[in-house]
Amino acid sequence: MHRRQLLKTLASAAAALPLPLAAQTAAQKSPGSIRITGVDVIVTNPGATAMNNFVLIKISTNQPGLVGWGDATCTGSELGVAKFMEEHLTPGLIGQNPMHSERLWQRLFFLPYYRSGSVQMSAISGVDMALWDIKGKVAGLPVYDLLGGKVREGMLTYTNAGGRDFKQVEDNVRKLMERGYKVIKVQVALPGNDGGYAVPQTAAQAAKTKDAYAAGMPPDEVWDPMAYTRTLPKLFDHLRKTVGDEIELLHDVHERITPSQALQLGKALEPYRLFYFEDPLRPEHLDTFRLMRQQCSTPIAMGEVYTGQWDGLFLITEHLIDYVRHDLAHCGGITTGKKIATFCEPYGILTAWHGPGNISPITHMANAAVSLSIPNFGIQEFATGWGDPVREVFSDVPQYANGQVTVNDKPGLGIDVNEAVARKYPYVRRLRPAIRRPDGTPWAY
Ligand code: CO
Repeated sequence: MHRRQLLKTLASAAAALPLPLAAQTAAQKSPGSIRITGVDVIVTNPGATAMNNFVLIKISTNQPGLVGWGDATCTGSELGVAKFMEEHLTPGLIGQNPMHSERLWQRLFFLPYYRSGSVQMSAISGVDMALWDIKGKVAGLPVYDLLGGKVREGMLTYTNAGGRDFKQVEDNVRKLMERGYKVIKVQVALPGNDGGYAVPQTAAQAAKTKDAYAAGMPPDEVWDPMAYTRTLPKLFDHLRKTVGDEIELLHDVHERITPSQALQLGKALEPYRLFYFEDPLRPEHLDTFRLMRQQCSTPIAMGEVYTGQWDGLFLITEHLIDYVRHDLAHCGGITTGKKIATFCEPYGILTAWHGPGNISPITHMANAAVSLSIPNFGIQEFATGWGDPVREVFSDVPQYANGQVTVNDKPGLGIDVNEAVARKYPYVRRLRPAIRRPDGTPWAY
């Protein structure tokens, strides 16, 4: 048996092993006696192929075999989260009862005087997932059952069809339609631009990125918001004419335009009936959502860069958006995700939790736990195509088939980490690109 195959077999065998029955029974008999004995932070970049490093949280207990796994991955601040966790939050967890997930969430939130922000909230998110994982393992139930049980068996999902030009986007849309996708994200490169968001790079940009990585520096990338604003409606015009009206299309601006350009685009895209228009504005420009709502009917999704349940709250209470897109690895984990979904429900606002490939499969399992158990689920972003090294580290990942994502029904989050393999793939410095406008002005990624 090849080493890779052997590792896979060992990983799936380990995952198939339930918590030793004696330990589960003891914990169930006396959940008040369970204590946290250790918190490990493992930063891993499986096969050095991941776009960034995964920051994993392992919580150990005084019950033999009872551990929980969480994901505190925060792109661009991975080592900051790891150090913050070890030095500033872990001491607040040792000796505590892991069943008290809500109390521990609050305890960790108030622990540093200067609270909130991406680093602390990612750390709390990872801890929260690990605590729910433990809770599920003690109960012998998947986390979605603890949150109310399955409202649906699978989750509507989408993935990206990025291209260098309209024809390439069109071809990629057709390929995804053949694979059963009902909703597809479409992104196109701009004429004369080497890079772009969620599109293939030119050979020149790819070489520049490779050189920057080798030097441990952020790759340089140019972006022209004016060219983008001119191009995007033409892409949708092309797609509606070629792939028709039956397929749902969405687009992610990734905050790369000005408030007035967002307004122009929101109106210009109305005839093409988008599933949603994602992150049209930077979180620094939240007030502009009011103008967008007054002036156009394009459905809007927002929230992946939020770092807590308080961010963008009036977008919900004033019903200025249609989909919330918080990232459960940054906003406070399953606990916060469930609260946000509940808060959105009476407004008819649906969820679309952030789910790209640069957060670990553990967050994808956490996304599923909430997405499956809420009434106001909209869609679940899901990254297919994790490579073999990622599958060596993680015992399971959600499965895609026929436009939907499903997960296993194992207790907890249903995913274990092969620690030895994870440690064999240590941190690799991969800095985010430094984006600038053609005139040199630093700009949002
Ligand atoms: Co986005």
